[in-house]
Order: sequence, then C-alpha cells, then structure tokens
Amino acid sequence: MLIFAPPESASNRQFYTSLADTMRIDILTLLPELLESPLNYSILKRAKEKGILELYLHNIRDYAHNKHKQADDYAFGGGAGMVMMVEPIDKCITSLTSERHYDEILYLTPDGESFTQRMANHLATLGNIMMLCGHYKGVDQRVRDHYITREVSIGDYVLSGGEIAAAVIVDCTGRLIPGVLSDETSALMDSFQDNLLAPPVYTRPAVYKGWKVPEVLLSGHQLQIDEWRHQQSLDRTRLLRPDLLEEGEEEEGKG
Ligand code: 6GU
Repeated sequence: MLIFAPPESASNRQFYTSLADTMRIDILTLLPELLESPLNYSILKRAKEKGILELYLHNIRDYAHNKHKQADDYAFGGGAGMVMMVEPIDKCITSLTSERHYDEILYLTPDGESFTQRMANHLATLGNIMMLCGHYKGVDQRVRDHYITREVSIGDYVLSGGEIAAAVIVDCTGRLIPGVLSDETSALMDSFQDNLLAPPVYTRPAVYKGWKVPEVLLSGHQLQIDEWRHQQSLDRTRLLRPDLLEEGEEEEGKG
C-alpha cells in the first residue's frame, strides 16, 4: 500500500478527496463513437480532469476474433434481429475483471429495473463499475446469466441501443461522486433527492419587464428563505408529481 506524505498546498483536502473517491467506469459497446462526445463536457469533463472519474470505452468488436470481426449473429430459433454474441463480450469482460474487481456489472436494457436517483446515489459510492450496452435484439442470455449483476432501464420506452442510457446513468452518477460538484450541498438540493421537486430559482435583475422576483428571496432572512423554498417544493410536488410524496411516505415507513 502506498502512503502519501501530506502535501503542503492549501488544496490538500481536494488532494485526499480525489485519492479516496476515484471512480472507474468501463463501458462495453458496439458504438463507442456515440458515447465519446456526451461524456466529455461540463461536469463530467471537470470530474475527469480532477482525476475523480475515469471513463473507458471498449469496442466489443475489437474482441471478435473471427474473419469479419463479427460481434452479432442470427437468433437460434429464428426471428428478426441480430443477437450480440457471447464470445466477444466474454473476452472483453474477462480481460477487465482479470485486472480489477468490479462492484457492479450493469446491462442496459429496456426490460431492466428502472433507474432512479436512489440508484445513482448507490452507484456513486462504488469504486469500479462496468456497463454493457445492449443493441439489436439484445445479448445472448448466457452473458446475462453469468456476468451481469444488475439490469437497468432508464424508462418505459425503447431506444435503439443502451448507449444513450449509459450516458444518462454516467452523467447522473458522475456528478454525485464526492468532490465533483464544487459546492457539495448543491446535489443534496436536487429534485428527487428527498422525493421533492426543487423550488423555483431566480437571478438578477430583481425586476424584468415588471416581472418580479418573490420578495422573500431579496429579504436576507435565511430562515424565511429556507422555509419558503421548502413550501414551494412541497406545493410543486403536490401539484406536478403527487406520486413522489406517496413514495416518500412508503420509504419512511420501510426505514
Ligand atoms: Cl437501458 N436500453 C434500450 N435499448 N432502451 C431503453 C433503455 C435501455 N432504457 C429505456 N429504454
């Protein structure tokens, strides 16, 4: 085990944070190009530059060893659509798991468990995650049976592949890793973190075309501002997403 001497600089808290909380995500896909751009901007870009998040894209086709680098084939039993073959995926996963332990190996598929903020919070606490993007008709069931720890969907609709779903999950999870957001409390204030929608926000000017910012926000009374925001969250949730309030009560009952 490596022991690091305390750095002298004022940024040493950041130094230790990133050492302890680096997260590694390996994404297995037939279309790495589809993921390169969405994962290289804004908060995720900063997370990578800070060394808090490591992202690797693996082209499954590179592990296909037959003549045509074929990674999909017709389904046994017939039917339309191609199935992703077991061998190239097995080769890729085996090569990665021989290097390190993975806390979760996710398969992104419309028939998976629904992705939620709660799941993102969980994933953000892990060290190494692998994500397999499904395509065409899906992957050979033996991959699911022998490697996948969790099957995840991002909603009740069908995408042409798991790549965009992977981008959603990486974006959502990446920003929750400690040290990624400069003001860590800001993630705690997000919609859904406590089954409430976020309150409305305003910035300058205080009056625009006669449209006024609520007085309380300009008052400087932090307690009143906090109360107002909480009330707005409750009202908005009741109006737009009453199902969230019921869910919250159920969860409290469980805990
Ligand atoms: Cl994870 N994959 C695909 N192909 N479609 C989806 C999905 C995933 N989540 C919702 N629709």
